[in-house]
Amino acid sequence: MLAIDSTRKISFNRSISNGDLVIVYERHDNMKAVTVSEGSVLQNRFGVFKHSDWIGKSFGSKVFSNKGGFVYLLAPTPELWTLVLSHRTQILYIADISFVVMYLEIVTGCVVLESGTGSGSLTTSLARAVAPTGHIYTFDFHEQRAGSARDDFERTGLSSFVSVGVRDIQGEGFPQEFAGLADAVFLDLPQPWLAIPSAAKMLKHDGILCSFSPCIEQVQRSCETVQSNFSDIRTFEVLLRTYEVREEKMESSQVNGNGSNGSLPCKRRQCSGGAGVLTYPTSSVMARPCGEARGHTGYLTFARLK
Ligand SMILES: C[S@@+](CC[C@H](N)C(=O)[O-])C[C@H]1O[C@@H](n2cnc3c(N)ncnc32)[C@H](O)[C@@H]1O
Repeated sequence: MLAIDSTRKISFNRSISNGDLVIVYERHDNMKAVTVSEGSVLQNRFGVFKHSDWIGKSFGSKVFSNKGGFVYLLAPTPELWTLVLSHRTQILYIADISFVVMYLEIVTGCVVLESGTGSGSLTTSLARAVAPTGHIYTFDFHEQRAGSARDDFERTGLSSFVSVGVRDIQGEGFPQEFAGLADAVFLDLPQPWLAIPSAAKMLKHDGILCSFSPCIEQVQRSCETVQSNFSDIRTFEVLLRTYEVREEKMESSQVNGNGSNGSLPCKRRQCSGGAGVLTYPTSSVMARPCGEARGHTGYLTFARLK
């Protein structure tokens, strides 16, 4: 995760040490989290990689196997962690996470309450956003899930910014000790309307609540409940369209010296032979929408405490 040094400053310039978590990147759709351990090896279809070769290299380095195959060793940022974490529940992905962090106005020093913790996907980004002086208090009623999330925050180096509690937030609400202290409250619960009255008590004046729900019926019920204590109520659905960027072969074409041949899809063009003839390259970088774009994930309802 983020390297936070003894002065609690976030560092982006750190080399890999024994015991670090790294993201081993083969392709954008094939990554895994590995803890570096001096005597261990990673074995995959590209060969055998010795962890000892990784120690001392910068995050982002390309490393080679015994067969000359390679992978990249990336820093375990929240963006990558979300893609490799073990799914114990449904999780929030980058599009929703980024929107939540922005719209809840979460910055360094904020105190945020969250329930349920689930797989800790959102929590990881919340923790980075509030570090090094803020804190996330996250609650899940599933003890084993809470324990696994705690282990993950330890592994990703975020445990000093996150406390995981086991509690039925729909039944009991958030602990009274947080009343009036939260800058923001985030709910990802099956019946969020049951927790909203407690969330209102936890927020500071002008604090913001966000509730994530996959179904519109849940949104309607939550919106009814927030009306009594909150203003500025807004619901969003964030739809992400991913583009595939790749180099493609094209037929080469030529135009005359005035450079006109209608629309020009190529970005690069080369002048050949100094004869005023423009030759278009035989390959070009194209971007087009991915076939398997992620569709509906859920609705995000935001409301500000009156
Ligand atoms: C969909 S998951 C949350 C996923 C999380 N937002 C993430 O990004 O990884 C919902 C979680 O809420 C928890 N939960 C359900 N009802 C609860 C309740 N009454 N109190 C606390 N947690 C609850 C479940 O155990 C589950 O882990």
